[in-house]
Amino acid sequence: MKLEKLYKKAIETGIKNDLRGKEEIKKTLAEEKEKHTKLKDDEVEYYDKDKLFNPFSDTRVLNGDLNTDVKKVIVGIDMEVGEILLTYILNKDLEQKIDLIISHHPEGYALAQLYDVMRLQADLLANYGITISVAEQLMQERISEIERRLMPVNHNRAVDVARVLGIPMMCVHTPADNCVTNYLKKTFEKEKPYKLKDVVNLLKGIPEYKKLAKLQVPPKIVSGSENNKCGKIFIDMTGGTEGSKEIFEKYVQSGVSTLVGMHISEEHLKNAKKAKLNVVVAGHISSDVLGLNLMFDEVEKEGKLEFVSVSGFERIRRNK
Ligand SMILES: [Fe+2]
Ligand SMILES: [Fe+2]
Repeated sequence: MKLEKLYKKAIETGIKNDLRGKEEIKKTLAEEKEKHTKLKDDEVEYYDKDKLFNPFSDTRVLNGDLNTDVKKVIVGIDMEVGEILLTYILNKDLEQKIDLIISHHPEGYALAQLYDVMRLQADLLANYGITISVAEQLMQERISEIERRLMPVNHNRAVDVARVLGIPMMCVHTPADNCVTNYLKKTFEKEKPYKLKDVVNLLKGIPEYKKLAKLQVPPKIVSGSENNKCGKIFIDMTGGTEGSKEIFEKYVQSGVSTLVGMHISEEHLKNAKKAKLNVVVAGHISSDVLGLNLMFDEVEKEGKLEFVSVSGFERIRRNK
């Protein structure tokens, strides 16, 4: 499969699994096209053209020609200098013929603009009955905070190593996180867990969570107790990074009783507890791996790939 095909298929899968709905994304892309036509001459050279067809700012081809033939990929949750050097060694000394490095967490200019995908969180909150003005204003504050936090980062450090070694590299973040969010939402709607312990058991039945449970990182109830009823569940696993720390009261007001997330910071957890919200941490790496696997199941419909799995990843296929 050509690198371009793989990239486009990842985006298409991300859109298909996006809980904002296709119409909302169409509107976002149309707005972007409009913005592009109105760019001033001195702005054109700084414009990221992928925005015209890719609504996920944290998903980009970072190095290499789109025309590259991709048969074998090396995939990890974080693909940094060490993993890129490993790829070089595998190709050179072990003749592994790896065509492409795929990182889940964003690198390079996809990391620099990670904050932009966070806008989708406001729409997801609105779907759960949170007033859109409240959701948007709280998110805008948080987005600016993340934008400032990303400014001093040495974004291109890993990508520069891939460039010098001549290895194509990409990152796929929100499309995979959309896949896990949609999958768990559907699973919970179908299985209807009654108590928090049922959520934990349901998760442990999924291979990616089972594997991490064996590695001593099981899904965990961090607010509420195992016999608490789940009530309405919100899956908080996509949209770049953690949302507003002020949001937890609003969840409760809109009828949500339980949050299921990948991870939660101490400050966010403190506020969730204050709001009397149940919180289940499903697991960070396990959730990211599940999202990637679901996405690759779709990508591989275009052609089978060979996988080398590192940095927390393991390829588990659902449609064999
Ligand atoms: Fe993720
Ligand atoms: Fe992650």
